[in-house]
Amino acid sequence: MAKLQGKPRTAYVCAECGAEHNKWQGQCGECGAWNSLSEIVLESAAAAKSPASRRSSWAGKVDAPKVTALKDVRHSEDARVSTGIGEFDRVLGGGLVEGAVVLVGGDPGIGKSTLLLQALAQMAPTLPGLYVTGEESLGQVAGRAARLGLPLDGLNALAETGVERILEHASALQPKLIVADSVQTLWTEQLTAAPGSVSQVRESAARLVRYAKETGAAVFLVGHVTKEGGIAGPRVLEHMVDAVLYFEGDSGSRFRVLRAFKNRFGAVNELGVFAMGDKGLREVPNPSAIFLSGGSVQQPGSCVMVTREGTRPLLVEVQALVDASPLSNPRRVAVGLEQNRLAMLLAVLHRHGGVVVGDQDVFVNVVGGIRVQETAADLPVLLAVLSSLRDKPLPDKTVAFGEVGLSGEIRPVPNGEERLKEAATHGFKRAIVAKANAPKAGSYKGMEVIAVERLADALIAAD
Ligand code: TYD
Ligand code: MG
Repeated sequence: MAKLQGKPRTAYVCAECGAEHNKWQGQCGECGAWNSLSEIVLESAAAAKSPASRRSSWAGKVDAPKVTALKDVRHSEDARVSTGIGEFDRVLGGGLVEGAVVLVGGDPGIGKSTLLLQALAQMAPTLPGLYVTGEESLGQVAGRAARLGLPLDGLNALAETGVERILEHASALQPKLIVADSVQTLWTEQLTAAPGSVSQVRESAARLVRYAKETGAAVFLVGHVTKEGGIAGPRVLEHMVDAVLYFEGDSGSRFRVLRAFKNRFGAVNELGVFAMGDKGLREVPNPSAIFLSGGSVQQPGSCVMVTREGTRPLLVEVQALVDASPLSNPRRVAVGLEQNRLAMLLAVLHRHGGVVVGDQDVFVNVVGGIRVQETAADLPVLLAVLSSLRDKPLPDKTVAFGEVGLSGEIRPVPNGEERLKEAATHGFKRAIVAKANAPKAGSYKGMEVIAVERLADALIAAD
């Protein structure tokens, strides 16, 4: 390994917004966060001598970059390798791409290590893999692999957290696929900061990214999310990697959802659905109705919606509880939905529906620990709130979807017919949707479709 000469060039990066500063300061000049800056290595003395940085200098060296007509650049048609797990391939955009760096985040215990070990074992016959574990011992990893009954040919493991040594082993072994579990345990000798600090995580991840791009090996980085929901300081890693996948799910439920938040090789917001069982994560290829609470009697405060996350319609249940508040400032709590959106919808409900919830606590939850980001949830949320307030269930076998505008209009959402079809297939009898989403006939495959233009119409339809 090259010896360090001189002091590495450093900068200070904000853990909240990722902005870089030349000197330390108490408050980030970009986003205003306090005490969020920590030191990072910009360029080590060793790296400064590397051909890569020489290429990018102004000095006009022999290997200075050349302008090339884009049509003459040779490229490989994003050759994709299946991970052997269909739902994982779907989230990745159709399989794993050579040299891709994928960040997999999620709460501790949600199944990140399990999924990656399963994928690594499935792919090992075609892509020799190296599983680097910084959290569990080799014995624990091997024990889990045995319990899951995974084929282990072509799969190597390494219990190590120092990036320099991980890269040495990788250079010797030449794996095509590396899993680093987790990035929070990695550290580089070039920094004095403690492992787990933003600077260590960022620099270590950057070294692995560089390795992936140089060798064409694909790298999975496992990251635990922090209490605020980001990976080791939000945004710090997200811009370096090709894809960011997050695991979502309720600790009480066995279903897990893997969602693409960023993907240079595929669509974002694509979902993969898994069920955790005693043989690890099993894919759920037809997840349509698993996020319904499953009660046979329709309860007050519940409304089923058809969401379309990624390229697939999903039936999801939204629940609301509206209760007299003892507080002067009643609570508005949204789980699985955006908080501000809920506040806005309640204001629309008051102004255009004449329904007063100002003295009530309002809690809204999406069943199954899944997150719904679409505005198609607006109408179902309001119907659930109203149903809870009136303590009266919606008519049996009813679904709804539609965006609610600030002037009380119900707006159509994309792929209306596909959503109606999904609801009809699952035996729903009525759908409350925006006018432009409703077929002219007023029914769809035997399901009554009620077209609503204004919030007031929807409130009547749901009565
Ligand atoms: P794990 O993959 O270790 O989570 P992470 O790496 O995200 O922290 O998942 C561990 C959880 O999954 C743990 O609570 C046990 C459970 N589990 C099963 O239910 N079945 C299994 O076959 C395995 C391996 C784990
Ligand atoms: Mg783990």
